[in-house]
Amino acid sequence: MLAPSLLAADFRNLEKEMSWFNQSAASWLHLDVMDGVFVPNISFGFPVLRAVAKLCKKPLDVHLMIIQPEKFIPEVKALGAYMMNVHYEACPHLHRVIGQIHEAGMHAGVTLNPSTPVSVLEDIIRDVDMVLLMSVNPGFGGQQFIEHTIDKVKALRAMIERTGSKALIEIDGGVNMDTGRRLREAGADILVAGSAVFGQTDPLKAAADLAAL
Ligand code: DX5
Ligand code: ZN
Repeated sequence: MLAPSLLAADFRNLEKEMSWFNQSAASWLHLDVMDGVFVPNISFGFPVLRAVAKLCKKPLDVHLMIIQPEKFIPEVKALGAYMMNVHYEACPHLHRVIGQIHEAGMHAGVTLNPSTPVSVLEDIIRDVDMVLLMSVNPGFGGQQFIEHTIDKVKALRAMIERTGSKALIEIDGGVNMDTGRRLREAGADILVAGSAVFGQTDPLKAAADLAAL
């Protein structure tokens, strides 16, 4: 499965971007929200997301790179989001936040920064619908893939099988045809790709190729 990241889209013409996207092989639209505190950058906020949600015909995969993400559960729900991803590093009471996301009727994902080991998920893996592994330090598109992520995918796949968890594995950052193929072989279910899709001259073909990995 493929979830192109809107971060690499042409913000001068989101309607045009969404019109090819809706016809593409992508499964979900990945939306990167940043606060300039949890990560050293700011992307877009809820007014922009509401406009995109009206244009997008595929499920929304919202990735909150913000502190206290639980404050925004009602806003994310109001978008009609399918998946709400919060960072492990931003949630001291992760079990409570996952429960709140479920109570709001959304699927819940937990995201790990590159330096956070998958072993910290041992006591939450059965409660989440997805684990989003960052394969770059979050905050910017177009960065180089961190190779160690391949080993993390394998370790996470083993934990999921051992515990009987139903969690999907999604990877975000530096995904292209080469890293994407190796991630799928290692056990990843969903690939996020910004520059490798929206940044391409033929994004429909790029999406079809990545989705077929
Ligand atoms: C990074 C974001 C990513 C980003 C990926 O903070 O979470 O979703 O858009 O961009 P690429 O695919 O260009 O590395
Ligand atoms: Zn992301």
